[in-house]
Amino acid sequence: MKLTLKIWRQKNAEDKGQLVDYKLDNISEDMSFLDMLDVLNEGLIMKGEEPVAFDHDCREGICGMCSLYINGEAHGPDRGVTTCQLHMRMFKDGDTIYIEPFRAKAFPVIKDLIVDRMAFERIQQAGGYISVNTSGNTQDANAIPIPKLDADLSMDAAACIGCGACVASCKNSSAMLFVAAKVSQFALLPQGKIEAADRVMNMVNQMDEEGFGNCTNTGACEVECPKGISLEFIARMNSEYLGAAIKSEN
Ligand code: SF4
Ligand code: FES
Repeated sequence: MKLTLKIWRQKNAEDKGQLVDYKLDNISEDMSFLDMLDVLNEGLIMKGEEPVAFDHDCREGICGMCSLYINGEAHGPDRGVTTCQLHMRMFKDGDTIYIEPFRAKAFPVIKDLIVDRMAFERIQQAGGYISVNTSGNTQDANAIPIPKLDADLSMDAAACIGCGACVASCKNSSAMLFVAAKVSQFALLPQGKIEAADRVMNMVNQMDEEGFGNCTNTGACEVECPKGISLEFIARMNSEYLGAAIKSEN
């Protein structure tokens, strides 16, 4: 395939940044999207030019590091996949592809296509854990019976990889889907119920402090989420939050 790439280049956080055109030839439809960017970067390095900076790590849809906005969609045109799982067969010979970073006030650009998503880490630190006593013998995994529906729902919420596509695809840059997944995965289990009220209050407060916008139920986050996190988790988190707020008033 022959392609024209329009890639966001930005030297650092202070730089204004701009789209720069690149031409590529001989791209196989069997390549992954990130392989294609590797080919571009090898060419740029051979010419003595600065390669395009982009985030990636596992390249198998697990770590949540890859974070590109491709032709106006977080993680590109395929559904239920991350950028690293996107293949060039989703594009046609002669295509022009726009590649930009995830854009949100709470995700400032560090360089080119890399954004700072530490805001998510700070939200996790505010409550995305359970406290357990790890001294003594290991507890038997089946000592606390958990209804199958709760276990399954908790696992569905735990599928969130913290990529930030929900924020990037939301017109308000809301982080509600991410926070709802992280709150719900614990709130559904007996081990998570002990700190549930503090958890939801602290995580939501941290989310607000980080400058994410409000949720207005457009549902774009659910459509673009590579892990299929359901909007129903937002309803669950809102109910958890209301319960915790009432409890703190009494
Ligand atoms: S909810 Fe989905 S889109 Fe948002 S961070 Fe988690 S996996 Fe990514
Ligand atoms: S590089 Fe790990 S999810 Fe894409």
